[in-house]
Amino acid sequence: MGEGHVVRNAMITGWGACLPPAVLTNADLETLTDTSDEWIVTRTGIRERRISHVDTSVLGTVAARRALAAAGMTGSDVDLVLMATCTPDRLVPSSATAIQHAIGASGAAAMDLNAACSGFLYALATADQMIESGAVDTAVVIGAEKLSFWLDFTDRSTSVLFGDGAGAVVVTAAEEPGGLLAFDLGADGSAGDILCVADSGTEGRPSRGRHPIISMEGPAVFRRAVDAMGDAAVAVVEGAGIALDDVDLLIPHQANIRIIDATARRLGLAPDRVFVNIASYGNTSAATIPIALAEALEAGRVGPGDTLVFAAFGGGLTWAAAAYRWGSRTEPLGVSDAALPDSDATALELLAANAELFGKGV
Ligand code: ACO
Repeated sequence: MGEGHVVRNAMITGWGACLPPAVLTNADLETLTDTSDEWIVTRTGIRERRISHVDTSVLGTVAARRALAAAGMTGSDVDLVLMATCTPDRLVPSSATAIQHAIGASGAAAMDLNAACSGFLYALATADQMIESGAVDTAVVIGAEKLSFWLDFTDRSTSVLFGDGAGAVVVTAAEEPGGLLAFDLGADGSAGDILCVADSGTEGRPSRGRHPIISMEGPAVFRRAVDAMGDAAVAVVEGAGIALDDVDLLIPHQANIRIIDATARRLGLAPDRVFVNIASYGNTSAATIPIALAEALEAGRVGPGDTLVFAAFGGGLTWAAAAYRWGSRTEPLGVSDAALPDSDATALELLAANAELFGKGV
C-alpha cells in the first residue's frame, strides 16, 4: 500500500427491520392443514410467523427508512438501492425502484437481486465491492419478502415454514477499520428443481390456470443446507484469517433450528454465540439475516469491534457466507417514524382474501 493511500472500507452504519403485525400461529395452521404445533416446533423450531397486508416494497421501504435514521442519513445520501427478494411486487419495474422513490433517493441506481434465501448476503457483498471500488459511496441494502404469496396453505410441506418481513442496512464508505473481511458466494443450478416456484415466469402458461406455488423436497434441501452453510461459514473464517474462537456471533439464515444447530456445531460455537429468532418469524428468505442483525443489535448482542459470521442457503440452490468486523457504534443515531399502514386484519383473514383473489389453497 503506497504512502498516503486511504483505506476505503464499506461499513454498516444503519440497520432496521419491519415485521407486519398479523401473526399466524402453529394453532392457526392446524385449522388449515394436517399438522400440529408439536410437529412444527420439534422439527423446525418455528412457533409463529407474520403475514403481510401490504406489498413487499412497502415492507422494504419501512425497513430502509429505519436503517437510514439509524445511520443519521436521508434518502438523498444514497447512491445505490439494492433489494434482495424473490417476491417482488412486480417483475417490472423492480421493487428497488419503488423503494428508491419512496425514500427520496433521487437518481440513485436501483435494482433487485434474486438469490432466494441467500439474496441479502449476495446483495451485501455486491454493495461492499461497489463501495470499495469507489463506484458508489453509500448503498441501502434491503432484504424483503412476502412469501405468503407463493404458498398453498393446505400444503403442510411448505406452509408451516415461511413468513413475511423486511430488514435493511445502510452501507457507506469509511476509513474506520472493519467491514466485510471475507465472503463466499456460490450456487448449484443442477439442483434448482428441488426448491422452486414453477410457472412463476416465462415458462408459465395461462392455460395451466393455477397460481404458482413453492414446492420443495424438504429432506434433500435440508442435507444440502447443512453441508453448504457449514462449508461457506468455515471458508469465510479461513478467508478472513481469523480463528473460530474469534467469532463473537453467528447470524445464520433461519430456515430450521436443526440446520442452525448443525452449522453452529460445525463451527464449534456455543449457543450464546449464535443468534436465533426462528420461533417468532419462521423463514423470511432474504429478509431473515437483516431482521436478525437489527434484533441482535437491539438486544445488545453485538459489541464494538465484534466479529460476526453470516451464513445462508436457499433456492437456486444458492449459498453465501460473510465474515464481518463491526465498527465502533452499536447504537442508532436516530429513530424513524416510518410505519406500515394500519391494519387489524388477522393472518387467517389475510390468507382467506389472498386465496379468493388468486384461487389457491387455504
Ligand atoms: N406437519 C406434520 N407432519 C409433517 C409436516 C407438517 N408440517 N411436514 C411433513 N410432515 C410429515 C411427513 O409427511 C413425514 O411423514 P411420514 O414419515 O409419515 O412419511 C414426516 O413428517 C417426516 O417428513 P420429512 O419431510 O422427512 O421431515 P423433515 O424432518 O425432513 O422436516 C422440513 C421437513 C422441515 C421441510 C425439513 O426438511 C427442512 O427444514 N428442510 C430445509 C428447508 C430449507 O432449508 N429451505 C431453505 C431455503 S428456502 C428458500 O430459499 C426460499
